[in-house]
Amino acid sequence: MKPLILLNFKTYPEAAGTKALPLAKKLEKVRTKKYEVVIAPSLPTLEEVAAGTSLTVYSQHTDLAGLGAFTGKISAQELKQIGVKGTILNHSERKIPFLILKKIVADCKKQKLVVVVCASSLLEAKKVAELKPDYLAYEPPELIGGDISVTKTKPDIILRAVELVKKISHKTKVLCGAGVHSREDIQKALQLGTKGVLIGHAVPKAKDPAKFLKELLR
Ligand code: G3P
Repeated sequence: MKPLILLNFKTYPEAAGTKALPLAKKLEKVRTKKYEVVIAPSLPTLEEVAAGTSLTVYSQHTDLAGLGAFTGKISAQELKQIGVKGTILNHSERKIPFLILKKIVADCKKQKLVVVVCASSLLEAKKVAELKPDYLAYEPPELIGGDISVTKTKPDIILRAVELVKKISHKTKVLCGAGVHSREDIQKALQLGTKGVLIGHAVPKAKDPAKFLKELLR
């Protein structure tokens, strides 16, 4: 299986609203045999981007909701219908209480969405691993949005997260994220035993996002 490069567009002005599809179309032109590239556009743009690009699309969040009286909620079932293939859950910017998270993970698995659950600490990683998601993304919140990569400042914690998760859920692959912005950061993440990275601001904020991504994946 190829390492996953998950690009979280968040709601950056360069990537949200009317900018989402044009950005996705630029990024889909970047070909790679080494990695699996997945994008997580802002929630209001999911359907348009999923329909308009060949890239795999994940949601940035999913709620505990079905199809019915759930005003303002994002349900796994609806995501599935509009061509979304997976979801990030419990991102530091969108935390979910653990008992609810447990139910959402089960619901997403039922819909056959790929589940990426974020953890901000080793303690949280331990709890999250028990939910046996497809991926666990370890992201120290204090490094998110900055230019110092987690792989440079916290390599020991990543190693420990990989070990810890392996013991609890053999099927769960570990990702890391926060400040990842270079080819070296990705290589280092893989050396530490992760199966990929989450990247936020570096791609949408780049002067030429496609060129930047190409260089990252070289
Ligand atoms: O979901 C990705 C993330 O939170 C990392 O963001 O901007 O530090 O790459 P960033």
